[in-house]
Amino acid sequence: MKQAEELNEPLLELLTNHNLVMILGPGGVGKTTVSACLGVKAAAMGKDVRLLTIDPAKRLADALGIGRDVSEQNLGVPHASGTLTASTLDRNEALDRLISRKAGNDKEIRTIVNNRFYKHLSGTLAGVHEYVAIEEVEHLCEAGEQDLLIVDTPPSTEALSFLDAPRKLEAVLNEPVFKTAVNLYSTAGRFSLFGMKAAGMAFRAFSTLLGSAFLRELMEFLAAFKQMFKGFEETASLSAKRFGAPDTTIVLVTGPGPTGVEETWHLAGELQNRGLNLAMVIVNRLMPRFLEPCPDKDLRQELSSLFEQHTIGSTALTRLSKALSENQALLSSIAVTQRDTLKNLVEKLSCPVISLPETRDPNGSIGALYRLVQSAEEVVK
Ligand SMILES: Nc1ncnc2c1ncn2[C@@H]1O[C@H](COP(=O)(O)OP(=O)(O)OP(=O)(O)O)[C@@H](O)[C@H]1O
Ligand SMILES: [Mg+2]
Repeated sequence: MKQAEELNEPLLELLTNHNLVMILGPGGVGKTTVSACLGVKAAAMGKDVRLLTIDPAKRLADALGIGRDVSEQNLGVPHASGTLTASTLDRNEALDRLISRKAGNDKEIRTIVNNRFYKHLSGTLAGVHEYVAIEEVEHLCEAGEQDLLIVDTPPSTEALSFLDAPRKLEAVLNEPVFKTAVNLYSTAGRFSLFGMKAAGMAFRAFSTLLGSAFLRELMEFLAAFKQMFKGFEETASLSAKRFGAPDTTIVLVTGPGPTGVEETWHLAGELQNRGLNLAMVIVNRLMPRFLEPCPDKDLRQELSSLFEQHTIGSTALTRLSKALSENQALLSSIAVTQRDTLKNLVEKLSCPVISLPETRDPNGSIGALYRLVQSAEEVVK
């Protein structure tokens, strides 16, 4: 494998000077592929890398070509002095682990984990996935077993939902109806009749509708959750600090089309509003530049030299050279249009813009990912 110096400057800087790199972007643009590329490259540079994918579709396993789900495993990067450990976040397992870390004692853990609201909420509540992921990131950073943690964020209609998860959860738990009910219930005594009634006042509609056993279970869940809320708040504020720290940064991935460029511009602004560092934008799947179209006569000559004498007739040769010329013209015009669109983005952004080319098969092996990252180029004004 090539030496680290051969990688372009901004990418070298990214992988050398940060401990936490979060890969963000709209759905399907190549976040998982880029994360895997960066992980492979950083390991080749001698870093001990942890690659965490929060992608529920488990695309990382495909990208790395390991043919099965990644739970947690060390991947051999050929000739690398560093290591690459990949893991996929299993939401339910991670949520249970999180409860174990936050809850005070075994009884509290059991109360929560066996509670039917927990079981339901853990599967359905919007934002739980992102929140658990943030907790996991914080946990891994605290443990500090890697030089570099790369986080591949989940596909999402709102690319920033990962970063906003702690604030959102806080807002839900601060809903007055939750707060009042839980406070009344815990102050009056968990199993006292008065406690149930008091909580029921806040949840009147629910209590008449659902009965007291249901209400008790709900209150029990919320009360136990409340004990842990301080822990959640602490992590949320630690995460907020970590996300803004100088050794943490974000890479925005986008496609080369006008929609992707517009969205990237918008996301970059949103990151700035949140005081977060944007290291670079990676424009993935940029159409490579093609050679200038050559004159028809030359093309015919080149083509006929590829065939054994008499294996291709003159009409077929004409048709073939016409088709090739048309394809080349089309692909070249796409490449030119994409670069024109990108000029606009490069001019507006203050961070580097790096392109990765459209390739036939970027995923499926460590070598392919390495070749892809090695072909990164900075898009200049
Ligand atoms: N440079 C590239 N050239 C060709 N194909 C690519 C390239 N990068 C990614 N792809 C392909 O694009 C598809 C989507 O890539 P990937 O899964 O990395 O995107 P993603 O942003 O992680 O998607 P999601 O939002 O669903 O998580 C995959 O089939 C992948 O092989
Ligand atoms: Mg993905």
